[in-house]
Amino acid sequence: MSSPAKLINQGIIMSAAMGGPIRAPIALDKTTAVLDAGTGTAGWLSEVAALLPATAELHGVDITDARFPQPAQAEGRPLLLDIVDLTAPLPERYHAKFDLINARHVLPWLPYSKWDDVYRNLLTALKPGGYIQVLDTRMTIAEDFAQYHPKMKKYVGTMAKAFGLDAEEPATMGRLIPNLPAYLPTLGFTDATQTIYPLFYGKLQPDPATREAGMMQMLGAARGFQTRGVGAATEGAERLSTIMEGVTYVVPGNNDEWEAFIEESRNSFEEVGWALPLRVTIAQRPLQ
Ligand SMILES: C[S@@+](CC[C@H](N)C(=O)[O-])C[C@H]1O[C@@H](n2cnc3c(N)ncnc32)[C@H](O)[C@@H]1O
Repeated sequence: MSSPAKLINQGIIMSAAMGGPIRAPIALDKTTAVLDAGTGTAGWLSEVAALLPATAELHGVDITDARFPQPAQAEGRPLLLDIVDLTAPLPERYHAKFDLINARHVLPWLPYSKWDDVYRNLLTALKPGGYIQVLDTRMTIAEDFAQYHPKMKKYVGTMAKAFGLDAEEPATMGRLIPNLPAYLPTLGFTDATQTIYPLFYGKLQPDPATREAGMMQMLGAARGFQTRGVGAATEGAERLSTIMEGVTYVVPGNNDEWEAFIEESRNSFEEVGWALPLRVTIAQRPLQ
């Protein structure tokens, strides 16, 4: 993990923070198949390819193949990638097949009304005794926000509004993520646990390349909003804003305001830094 270009892949930063891409207690040498649900660029599969036996099948599914790697390979091994909608029942070839299913940054991108269906579908795809590993980072979980340094709250509160995370559905998801260990057993999983691994940004990140990549990720997101003119204030119209813990955060309304916000945010990252909680939830399909 040397160049920032490589580290910009947030997945690698997440895996480094949690001590490797697999936290579920599976026997790596006995693993016959894993599935990356909502695989995107198949980044997680590329990370685990070197850890699993050569005979283990590396499957990935996504609703689109737009980001699938070409050729579909990692560490010289084939990746078995397919277009599959996780909200619909999974094809029978996947039933009871996997020792481990990984779902990284996927469920919050699906309609909340479909979560039960998606988790039940994934349960069906696990071998009895197999594990699911769910990875989420969320800026707006209230108890997390309460712990951020006041200087970081301006960045987080403002960006949360720009991302629309305070809308009803994203807010509901934000409340559920810390409660996944109670929710998953209602769908048939067992032994659900959640561990928080902090993702360190700015001053809190000791590795220079990771720090640079993190800054590119965080300030790049703000630059994206700036480029798209998010928050553009028209004469007399109400400004885009949100209230968190009684403080109003107003989204920058023009290019100059975004520029000032990005500069102030850069200073906050450099002066105090940010620990964004990565929640890793692990649960098992009962043996019978
Ligand atoms: C934020 S990306 C995460 C990608 C990958 N898991 C990672 O960590 O790099 C969310 C992924 O979920 C996929 N996705 C969204 N809705 C889906 C659905 N109904 N079925 C399968 N995949 C879906 C998207 O296409 C996208 O690749």
